[in-house]
Amino acid sequence: MSQSLATVAYLGAAILFILSLGGLSNPETSRRGNLFGMIGMALAVLATVFGPRVSPSGITWIVIALVIGGGIGLYAAKIVKMTQMPELVALMHSLVGLAACLVGFASYVDSSVQFSGAEKAIHEVEIYIGILIGAVTFSGSLIAFGKLAGRIGGKPLLLPGRHWLNLAALLVVIWFGKQFLNAHASGAGMTALVVMTVIALLFGVHMVMAIGGADMPVVVSMLNSYSGWAAAATGFMLNNDLLIVTGALVGSSGAILSYIMCNAMNRNFISVIAGGFGSGAPKKAATGDKAAEPQGEVVPVSAAETAEMLREAKSVIIVPGYGMAVAQAQHTVYEITKTLREKGVDVRFAIHPVAGRMPGHMNVLLAEAKVPYDIVMEMDEINEDFPEADVAMVIGANDIVNPSALEDPDSPIAGMPVLEVWKAKHSIVMKRSMASGYAGVDNPLFYKDNNRMLFGDAKKMLDEALGALKA
Ligand code: TAP
Repeated sequence: MSQSLATVAYLGAAILFILSLGGLSNPETSRRGNLFGMIGMALAVLATVFGPRVSPSGITWIVIALVIGGGIGLYAAKIVKMTQMPELVALMHSLVGLAACLVGFASYVDSSVQFSGAEKAIHEVEIYIGILIGAVTFSGSLIAFGKLAGRIGGKPLLLPGRHWLNLAALLVVIWFGKQFLNAHASGAGMTALVVMTVIALLFGVHMVMAIGGADMPVVVSMLNSYSGWAAAATGFMLNNDLLIVTGALVGSSGAILSYIMCNAMNRNFISVIAGGFGSGAPKKAATGDKAAEPQGEVVPVSAAETAEMLREAKSVIIVPGYGMAVAQAQHTVYEITKTLREKGVDVRFAIHPVAGRMPGHMNVLLAEAKVPYDIVMEMDEINEDFPEADVAMVIGANDIVNPSALEDPDSPIAGMPVLEVWKAKHSIVMKRSMASGYAGVDNPLFYKDNNRMLFGDAKKMLDEALGALKA
């Protein structure tokens, strides 16, 4: 393939990526957005593999790598459960970071390309920054993976003088950067590069370890953004325009998403990085756990009583959370919605921006179950309507409906906007036990006079309620 044809293909791919991002911003156009992204990526890969910069012997190696990498990716995507998707995404981000590091080291030791003067300095700055961002992304994403998968506790690691540690790490990285650029022998340059990489890896671990459970959504989108910048840095090192454009698109859209997440959590970016928000650790169950001792009486209800309350309601607001994803209850939720609407009940959904474990988690599940988009409302659109609702039905949600965020200034999640379900005439919380949510904070909603608890697996309870509704 000639250079000009490859450039045209790259341009086409870049346009498709932009259209893809545009499509993904709305549930109704998201399938089309995905399709654009897939076509763009196929075009980009083909134009690169058969482009002018790959020799025929190189193609064999690339095809072997594509088959191995593609095979692992296909297998992982096939076996991953919907609830493990955020962990998979974090793991993928770590691979982008690792790739940036490896490409950086390879570019440094590659003797086939020789630069001199200003060009050499620019190339070395690209390598240094590329490896720096890549290493932070790699280790930070691995820790995020551990936290999302529950292999590392949600409690933030708050080392004494941690901000000074971070500042010292930054200064050391700048100093070694100077040594790297001034190094005349490649051995000295390599030492500076390796020391910086180790510091960057430790910084990534320290940064994400210090984040409390409630700030994880921002961290997930922040690492998404870092992975984009790492890809852009790789593009600079490899002199590949499409990788620079694509990396910048991912980096900037991830940064915008982080900003949106910060707003949703009523947090500023600096305090997220400073860490510690939502400092509890998820509690397994109330029994035998001192911190989770009952703060009052809870009133349990059965699935049949729940069905009765729903049948008598004129207006119902459903609040889905992570537990709905765990139970895979979205299809039964849709059946209940359909049945109630046929009986003339007004049913709407209230979506908190950080419900579940990844941005848009609940929207994806509800779209999969074919819930009409026009009854799925964002928090800001529906929060004021709870006082008019007869029943607010909370399905496997916890932190996002915790009144202590608004009522208790000492709460670890104080200030975080939540869905005000307790203002409805009745609320029903569907979960298996009295355990707290991801942020590890007890929930006073359970003890409110107008609240009822439906204990059990959400799918099982909803199936029973649906049966009773239809009977
Ligand atoms: P959580 O606060 O995590 O609460 C989910 C609840 O679902 C749990 O209390 C659990 O209680 C219940 N549950 C689990 N499995 C269930 C099942 N099979 N049937 C019924 N209930 C079940 O979830 P949320 O309210 O959606 O809030 C999200 C939390 O995750 C926030 O703290 C947020 O900051 C954090 N987070 C979000 C993201 C993004 S980007 N969305 C990323 C990382 C972290 P039981 O064990 O008693 O059943």
